[in-house]
Amino acid sequence: MVRYTDIKASNTLINDSTAPRVAVFVGGTSGIGQLTIKALVATGASSRIYLIGRKSSQDRAHVFINELQSANPKAEVIWIEGEVSLLADAKRVCEVIKSRESHVDLLFLTTGYAPFGPREETTEGIEITLSLGYFSRMVFVLQLLPLLREAEAARVVSVLGGGLMERPTSIDLDDLAMEKPGSFGPIKSQMLSATMNTATLDKLAADNPGVTFIHSYPGWVDTGNARRGFEPNSWKAWLAWLFLEPLIRIFSFSDEESGQRHLFMSTSAYYGGGGVPWTGKAGVNTFGKLVNGLFLVNYRNDCTLNAGVLSALRERATERIWKHTQDVLEPYL
Ligand SMILES: NC(=O)c1ccc[n+]([C@@H]2O[C@H](COP(=O)([O-])OP(=O)(O)OC[C@H]3O[C@@H](n4cnc5c(N)ncnc54)[C@H](OP(=O)(O)O)[C@@H]3O)[C@@H](O)[C@H]2O)c1
Repeated sequence: MVRYTDIKASNTLINDSTAPRVAVFVGGTSGIGQLTIKALVATGASSRIYLIGRKSSQDRAHVFINELQSANPKAEVIWIEGEVSLLADAKRVCEVIKSRESHVDLLFLTTGYAPFGPREETTEGIEITLSLGYFSRMVFVLQLLPLLREAEAARVVSVLGGGLMERPTSIDLDDLAMEKPGSFGPIKSQMLSATMNTATLDKLAADNPGVTFIHSYPGWVDTGNARRGFEPNSWKAWLAWLFLEPLIRIFSFSDEESGQRHLFMSTSAYYGGGGVPWTGKAGVNTFGKLVNGLFLVNYRNDCTLNAGVLSALRERATERIWKHTQDVLEPYL
């Protein structure tokens, strides 16, 4: 088990030689991404941070960037506007980054929410929460992989449901777009996104041994995320406000703790051996090994294996998920 005191101690060791020099945050306009950027900038390191977000968040993002620059003038924060639920825009943003950078040390992905309303598609015909939680994230990963491979100890952190995954028998592999009647729902969509994140990152980790992949389950953090999936002023939204949100407030990690925990995931050699040195027992990858790979990280920063389900996924689902992913992403790669 990783103790929170050890996490904070590790984060105090972050400096110009251990901090990500170039970091890309997709979803950093609020919530866990934003908290992690704050924690990174507060280390005083001279990182260059790309903050990607939609136009409606631009004014908020500029206020945030001004706060960051006064907290640490050595950090450079660059705003790139992008409607990241759209894969074409995700690709365009990656092209901007690729035109400016020769390597990327950290790609941190947090977009998405659980949909409590009806199924809603983007203009590209993809259910929006599957796009935010999985497909658009994978455009960023696959587009930026060449730059991640150029970094000394690159890392991809996808925050959603590390360790939570469906058994292959519970997934309709013929309906990974969730189009069949009755197939769609808040838990089902989140679990499918989480399962596809794990299956694909597990495959990419095997093909890219120099990059550390992390799929994090953050526990409860009071970011307003639960509110996003409800239709405004619906009875479900009122029920959530009355019962769910107070519960989340009570049982959530504080903003500070969530930021520190995710900064540790983004920088510590506990995962895969690169980054801020770790002297204790290290975390294990999805093969139970102490080497680089994919790490399924729970809300206490421990590595979960879920070995039985994962090996069934590898045997029966990963290739189908990968094929579907390639078919959907093909125009955007
Ligand atoms: N917070 C929790 O307790 C918790 C628990 C388990 C899992 N998770 C999952 O972990 C991830 C990060 O959570 P979080 O609490 O940090 O999330 P969040 O703050 O609610 O949202 C993260 C990002 O998603 C973007 N986003 C939301 N809807 C969008 C849309 N329709 N189009 C474009 N961008 C959109 C937000 O952009 P804007 O700033 O522009 O709105 C924000 O940058 C999410 O996938 C969440 O479902 C969270």
